[in-house]
Amino acid sequence: MSGATQPDTSKPDLPQRCDVVVLLSGTGGNLQAMIDRFQDGSCPARIRAVISNRADAYGLERAKHAGIDTRVLDHTAYEGREAFDAALVELIDSFSPKLVVLAGFMRILTPGFVRHYHGRLLNIHPSLLPLYKGLHTHQRAIEAGDTAHGCSVHFVTEELDGGPLVVQAVVSVELHDTPATLAQRVHAREHLIYPLAIHWFAEGRLALGKEGVTLDGQPLGPRGHLIPATQPGSSL
Ligand code: GRF
Repeated sequence: MSGATQPDTSKPDLPQRCDVVVLLSGTGGNLQAMIDRFQDGSCPARIRAVISNRADAYGLERAKHAGIDTRVLDHTAYEGREAFDAALVELIDSFSPKLVVLAGFMRILTPGFVRHYHGRLLNIHPSLLPLYKGLHTHQRAIEAGDTAHGCSVHFVTEELDGGPLVVQAVVSVELHDTPATLAQRVHAREHLIYPLAIHWFAEGRLALGKEGVTLDGQPLGPRGHLIPATQPGSSL
């Protein structure tokens, strides 16, 4: 009998690191949730850089505090959308990310930009898409008398807030809710589902193919993975 040790083939290969570039224009609450979620190294996602079109975005401070590279690309310094997006692609690609994540990036992206990152560009939107594309989603949900609201992570396509859904979290609308109180609860759910979707992508479990969005090789439904509302007062 040979004493040679055979390689252990019982364990699957660990997934390779997944570099992520985050684009933002504002406070960066979602960025902070990603930083917190990925800091223990248990997920292969690594935030390689944070890029903002606004030099005063607080999200840049959060990134610097976490030791993440930051860049500012001021859209007002460019002749038009095409020129800005071309410069943005060049800057993003200098970090060679596998995934690009929009986290409150207040710019409409050109079709060329969106095509360049097809299948590796995610966005989060504060409504249960396809309801309430665009702005003021919390106010619109309250005015419509909705009892359920929430947030959605989706792959970005050329249709604004219209790409295939990855995951949605539902939030109950309470009688006393104002847009501000409802936004607060929706944000808490955003901070749960965005890192989750990025984690899936980084592990190679989430993909956008001809058949739509798949998780672990199985097609997700038209609403993506659905996380129901929690009871009022319960922890997330
Ligand atoms: C979030 O509400 C997100 O859904 C939307 O922009 C907002 C960004 O918030 N796309 P933050 O800067 O991540 O706190």
